[in-house]
Amino acid sequence: MLRKIEEHFGPVSRGDALDFGCGVGRLSIPLAKEFNRVTGLDVSRAMLEEASKNLAERRIDNVDLVESDDVLSRLGDKRFNFIHTYIVLQHISAKRGYVIVRNLLRHLASGGTFFIHVCCRRNLPLVRELVYFCKTKIPGGYILFNMLQGKKISEPVMEGNEYDVGTLLKVFQEAGFEDVMTKLENRSNCLTASFYSKKD
Ligand SMILES: C[S@@+](CC[C@H](N)C(=O)[O-])C[C@H]1O[C@@H](n2cnc3c(N)ncnc32)[C@H](O)[C@@H]1O
Repeated sequence: MLRKIEEHFGPVSRGDALDFGCGVGRLSIPLAKEFNRVTGLDVSRAMLEEASKNLAERRIDNVDLVESDDVLSRLGDKRFNFIHTYIVLQHISAKRGYVIVRNLLRHLASGGTFFIHVCCRRNLPLVRELVYFCKTKIPGGYILFNMLQGKKISEPVMEGNEYDVGTLLKVFQEAGFEDVMTKLENRSNCLTASFYSKKD
């Protein structure tokens, strides 16, 4: 990923990196080897606890784990040389996600780069798309399917939200980015796009 960015935008400054939706630290760990300091943000305390264990096991001490909210309030006015998010925004409604992306970009330092990954188009087989529709759009639908599928009744739906590329490009443009590169990837059941650019 860093190589790809550097091919287009030149060297990425290896100061501070932000990993939004860091989960258990799968990508914060390699980022910690590349950057002086990494902040891993996640909305889930359980994920942050796992990440903390994973970092300790590997004796990695340059990662700060921080609980997240949509306005990124715990970041204060900190700026990062690299802002990264992967397989996260698809689990957040697009309306909220556009706001989060705007907020993330405010934390980019001058000369910094971002790498933002979204799902552009779900490509579930028709039956699974119908089930997804019923679970997400019909009130109580997920409860019925949880019962039918023998799951815990309260188990939430794993959201796979599509983002509108035009809306995202507008967010980038309004934040001052006009030279934005895209990398497409077919993940299971979803065509995804990673957008990357550098702040002048
Ligand atoms: C599929 S995991 C990906 C984790 C990591 N980026 C990776 O690639 O291994 C998605 C993560 O996004 C986090 N997440 C979901 N909604 C979030 C939100 N609103 N703010 C921050 N993190 C969120 C989840 O808690 C979870 O850890």
